[in-house]
Amino acid sequence: MNDLPEVKHVAIIMDGNGRWAKKHDLPRVEGHKKGADTVEDLLNYVYNYGVKYVTLYAFSTENWKRSEEEVNALMALLSFFLQEKKQKMLDNRIRLCVTGRIDGLPKEVASSLRNVMAETAKDYEYTLILALNYGGRAEIVDAAKKFAKECISGKISPDSLDESMFKEYLYLPDVPDPELMIRTSGELRLSNFLLWELSYSEFYVTDTLWPDFSEEEFRKILENFGKRDRRFGGRK
Ligand code: FPP
Repeated sequence: MNDLPEVKHVAIIMDGNGRWAKKHDLPRVEGHKKGADTVEDLLNYVYNYGVKYVTLYAFSTENWKRSEEEVNALMALLSFFLQEKKQKMLDNRIRLCVTGRIDGLPKEVASSLRNVMAETAKDYEYTLILALNYGGRAEIVDAAKKFAKECISGKISPDSLDESMFKEYLYLPDVPDPELMIRTSGELRLSNFLLWELSYSEFYVTDTLWPDFSEEEFRKILENFGKRDRRFGGRK
């Protein structure tokens, strides 16, 4: 795509499904269904912009606090999505990855995730990362535990730890940090999303509710990103 900046990894907080449903006088679950359609649309265009990795915040460690009905509906939507999109992902060489505590998800969901992940990892060019049962603090705690265990077993010395080594203990060490994080529906919060990985990312918050998010808006966000002066704490 001409004149657009190169962005390898985009992370998205897909917020506003509930507000979309309310606006249309529908149950919350209908908002999530429409949100899942928007995910499908996104996968049809996002990789055409040179993007190689997309991370979507689909279910946080805090989302368990929602009603049982809503949690069940989200898990059912996810299962349906995996079933429906597996072939499309294979055809388009999209690998599925999960970031989060996958073992804490319902058994059937975890097992279909594992199945799609294994199938799509064989040959791929693009990566879709679903953040599921994910919390940024939980990820850092899990990494710290793994590191501590290796210290205790004598495999590594605590003094050898630095930032790049710490990344190796996170859920997806081989995935580059997102250059751009988009949050829909206007909230100016990080909501425990990718706390480590977003340290130097550019943020873009739009008032658009996730179900209404479009390719046109995505393109505008990329144009805006291209005008930013990224200094990573330094000065030219
Ligand atoms: C936030 O909207 C959205 C979520 C908690 C779930 C995101 C899930 C989807 C987009 C659908 C399923 C995903 C896949 C990958 C199939 P909210 O409910 O917090 O909205 P509100 O703040 O307006 O109430």
